[in-house]
Amino acid sequence: MNEHARLEARPIPFTDVDAQRRRLGRAVDDAITRVLAHCQFINGPEVRALEAELAAFCGARHAVACSSGTDALRLVLMAWGIGPGDAVICPTFTFCATAEVVALAGATPVLADVNPDTFNLDPASCARAVATAKRLKLAPRAVIPVDLFGLPADHDAVAAIAADHGLKVLDDAAQSFGATYQGRRLGTLGTAAATSFFPAKPLGCYGDGGAIFTDDDGLAARIRSLRVHGESPGDKYNAVAIGITGRLDTIQAAVLLEKLKIFPDEIVARNAVAQRYADGLAGTATLPRVGDEATSVWAQYTVRLEPGRRDALAAALKAQGIPTAIYYRKPLHRQAAYRGFPVGDGGAPVAERLAEAVISLPMHAYLEPLVQERIIAAVREALVG
Ligand SMILES: Cc1ncc(COP(=O)(O)O)c(C=O)c1O
Repeated sequence: MNEHARLEARPIPFTDVDAQRRRLGRAVDDAITRVLAHCQFINGPEVRALEAELAAFCGARHAVACSSGTDALRLVLMAWGIGPGDAVICPTFTFCATAEVVALAGATPVLADVNPDTFNLDPASCARAVATAKRLKLAPRAVIPVDLFGLPADHDAVAAIAADHGLKVLDDAAQSFGATYQGRRLGTLGTAAATSFFPAKPLGCYGDGGAIFTDDDGLAARIRSLRVHGESPGDKYNAVAIGITGRLDTIQAAVLLEKLKIFPDEIVARNAVAQRYADGLAGTATLPRVGDEATSVWAQYTVRLEPGRRDALAAALKAQGIPTAIYYRKPLHRQAAYRGFPVGDGGAPVAERLAEAVISLPMHAYLEPLVQERIIAAVREALVG
């Protein structure tokens, strides 16, 4: 079978953890074996080494590894003492964890609309959500901009609103670790940032994991305590705060240390894949654009379609063995668990339209040009004939 026929015959994965495993060879297996040999499964040396590498990678003063992206967000809110009577502004077009942690803290997520081009928090809607929170007699304490699909939010605009209203900024970089904004890697924007190492994320481990980034020494120390049941430093069985079991397993840290070595290269590869989509799909749909101030890590390649065309495109691609995904079919304020939370004045019409129009195509660092040609041809055929 020639190369073309081989690639034609193979089912196309949406993300390809397998191809990455092949590239890494025995490196991850050996790293795990080293942990099995030293048996420090909790807070082993790999965890500290990973924290140092992550901090160096993004330029943050502190990186604190933890059990998931959700716990990373949650630990920051706990450390800030956010709770009942407080409001935290979140975009409504995001994964539910962004607002879930606010509700878990006993505070109120106030949901804001997003920008139609970037899918990220719309600063004007964010400012209106602050006003809504005040009218509801809630104390606006923080804003969680999300860098959706790997693209940084409008951090300057968010910082200006935060400064006006005395809000802390918690950057939800779960999908975007490795991206840059004005030449700075995410992790250094906001008062603190959180990321996820869920396997499908641009930098993923082989289970659940996450990390918090901050330049604030006091905040980092409180989070380190909270992730181990609020223990006091050097006095393990003397809890000084109510915390959680929020640690990252040593085995996952060992996996991430190996994956971090090839991550810069993978970011370049992801950008090449995005560029091939941009060239090949021009004129078929509204394609993602990245402004001069930012770079994306392309957690997803998400296009917008004219109303009513999505199901037919998904079906046509599926018939050719090409998977698609829809992030997100419902904005948070339309989901049962979040319906009761306030939406900022003006509502979220953009998020509602996007939820009907977006579709994501296969995206990962190992998408071969010939396979991508097949995807592009199928999309073109379905949309423009
Ligand atoms: C925007 C966003 N925030 C938070 C999370 C939560 O991360 P985790 O699944 O690691 O808890 C995710 C994960 O999908 C996410 O996409």
